[in-house]
Amino acid sequence: MSSDTITVSRAAQGLHGTITVPGDKSISHRVAILGALSRGSMKVRNYLCSEDCINTLRAMQQLGAQVEAGDCPQNFTLTGTAMQPQAPAHDIDCGNSGTGMRLMAGVMAALPFSSRMYGDPSLSSRPMGRIITPLSQMGARITACGEKPGCAPLQIEGTTLQPIDYELPMASAQVKSAVLLAGMLTKGRTSVQQPAITRDHTERLFEHFGIPCTVSKDGLNISVEGPVDITAKDITVPGDISSAAFWLVAASITPGSDITLRHVGLNPTRDAIITVLRRMGANISIANVSNEGEPYGDITVKYTAALKGTVVLKHEIPNLIDEIPVLAVAAAFAQGTTSIRNAGELRVKESDRIATTVHNLRAMGASVEEFSDGLSINGGAPLHGAVMDSYHDHRIAMSFLMAGLNADGETTLLNCANINTSYPGFEEHLHALTH
Ligand code: S3P
Repeated sequence: MSSDTITVSRAAQGLHGTITVPGDKSISHRVAILGALSRGSMKVRNYLCSEDCINTLRAMQQLGAQVEAGDCPQNFTLTGTAMQPQAPAHDIDCGNSGTGMRLMAGVMAALPFSSRMYGDPSLSSRPMGRIITPLSQMGARITACGEKPGCAPLQIEGTTLQPIDYELPMASAQVKSAVLLAGMLTKGRTSVQQPAITRDHTERLFEHFGIPCTVSKDGLNISVEGPVDITAKDITVPGDISSAAFWLVAASITPGSDITLRHVGLNPTRDAIITVLRRMGANISIANVSNEGEPYGDITVKYTAALKGTVVLKHEIPNLIDEIPVLAVAAAFAQGTTSIRNAGELRVKESDRIATTVHNLRAMGASVEEFSDGLSINGGAPLHGAVMDSYHDHRIAMSFLMAGLNADGETTLLNCANINTSYPGFEEHLHALTH
């Protein structure tokens, strides 16, 4: 469990050692949902045992899926409901997780019972209209009951849906996946057209489970033919590149560093953080690449004295959307300007990540400009420690702890127990790499 307040100071010797980051969050949610519907039992290895993904697994147990403990908490046997899930006995707690709530809404909308999903204050202020709109076009009956219009709790009266062709107004893998999951339970062909490539874990898992899904050559149009009958199949979840990103940046900016991160997911719709850090001059090498539906490998990163600023390209934004706070930290240590625009989606994450990143960078003395759709960082000046808030956002907490490893004096992050939503064992890894 992460502490609520974490203080770090300069890692004078750099970061050293080898760690294995926990399982991928996006993939874990999807494995729980698809496995829970499936026919038969499957071994799940390296599931992310973070609060977000445990909440999704608990929700699936409410639908009748069975989880039998394995040799460690992240390895277990999941027995599905043979496409006959039962109505949940209680309201479903999605905690802090937009992915959990939005993806499960796609499923619940198409099942023959009522359900209600709620979340914490951060999740209860995030927009749900983006999934309610397409799902309603399919015939779903979803009411956003939150104090803030269009927000959770969601009351869902499940019913038989109609297939649609839906053009996504924003590049969102969550919205894409909510529609595809609903489509998978609906008779006929449901298609989504996305404005840019977004993470394709749902499509890859459809393939893993033998669900009929077609993807256009340009990767922008995805269709699923329902209703499907899913057969359980063992799976190993690769390490989360979004968790690895903190160490990629920390080692790149901290003199003397040389670390290896094992079994990190290298899905090409998720690896732009590596592309962009390399373009900034980072010394990153990849070895032992394998592919079990999702590619993964070992990443070695060493300190580079000569990081330089860059322009993050529009098409790279969805690919590294969750890594932008920590990329902005790297930019503060790079010579020159880094420009991150076309990233307005950051304003509706666990916090308004443009505002919170800018605020905390300024608190440490960095020169930053804020735009409605992003930020630009004028890097290269030394940073000083500060006392900062996480703003209910795990990635803000971890990003600014990485900055603190290179700042003068002490850096303290308040309210950062939320790190447990995505990275159990973060403090142990911090200690292991810096001692
Ligand atoms: C996710 C998609 C992204 C990402 C989130 C996980 C997913 O959100 O930020 O952390 O698993 O589909 P959007 O779909 O809102 O861009």
